[in-house]
Amino acid sequence: MSKRLEGKVAAITGGNQGIGLGIAQRFLEEGAAVAICYLSDKPGTERVVEGLRSGGGNAVAIQADVSKLADGQRFISETVSQLGELDILVNNAGVEKRANFWDVTEADYDFVLNVNLKGLFFVSQAMVRYLIEAQRPGKIINISSVHEELPFPHFSSYCASKGGVKMLTRNLSIELAPLGITINNIAPGAIETPINKNLLNDPVKLKSLLENIPLRRLGKPEDVASIAAFLASQESSYITGTTFVVDGGLTWNYEEQ
Ligand code: BGC
Repeated sequence: MSKRLEGKVAAITGGNQGIGLGIAQRFLEEGAAVAICYLSDKPGTERVVEGLRSGGGNAVAIQADVSKLADGQRFISETVSQLGELDILVNNAGVEKRANFWDVTEADYDFVLNVNLKGLFFVSQAMVRYLIEAQRPGKIINISSVHEELPFPHFSSYCASKGGVKMLTRNLSIELAPLGITINNIAPGAIETPINKNLLNDPVKLKSLLENIPLRRLGKPEDVASIAAFLASQESSYITGTTFVVDGGLTWNYEEQ
């Protein structure tokens, strides 16, 4: 297969683990240079970057807390200064907190909304300001969730953030189209990543989840990375404002016995 992202530069938030790392690996294989941002664990991230570079590609890591406006802006500006330009942004960083709605604290609400929605909003804004200034087209890919549509009881702050991402994507697709910038969402279902490590370590919960997934397996970061590579490439040039669900059939699963 020919490399679809040759000469492109991509910035990926939360690119040091899970889905973000899977996308970073795939983008490098497709010929892009990649900047990942990470919140903490510098030594661990340095090892990840060494692994990413081992195939010969150009990868850098930048520490930034995307829930803070200035950090998100710095992630974009440092990506440009270290890699020379920027074509693709993947807003992947995401967190969730489980609680009954009536027990959700202000701190947990702020944590989830500030990473998943505020962070994505302002990192995208920084990317768009850069693209306007540089007079370049660009692509924004948001890692949303099936829970931008599907209820997820006990994760109300998470659902609110992902519903916000869905609407923001639709809105920006119209506002950014005249600038040559497309924006789309990928909505993963249950993917094997650190965000659901509690579930992965609980055989009873895992079994019941698998029974809800028609393809009877969890997704892998690579399952999400392949559609991300398509959305980052010119093959998707006529697509904007849309969500691509990657969930093994979970969302529309319904059957009567
Ligand atoms: C959540 C996971 C959940 C999955 C399927 C994802 O968005 O992060 O915790 O297992 O959706 O419900």
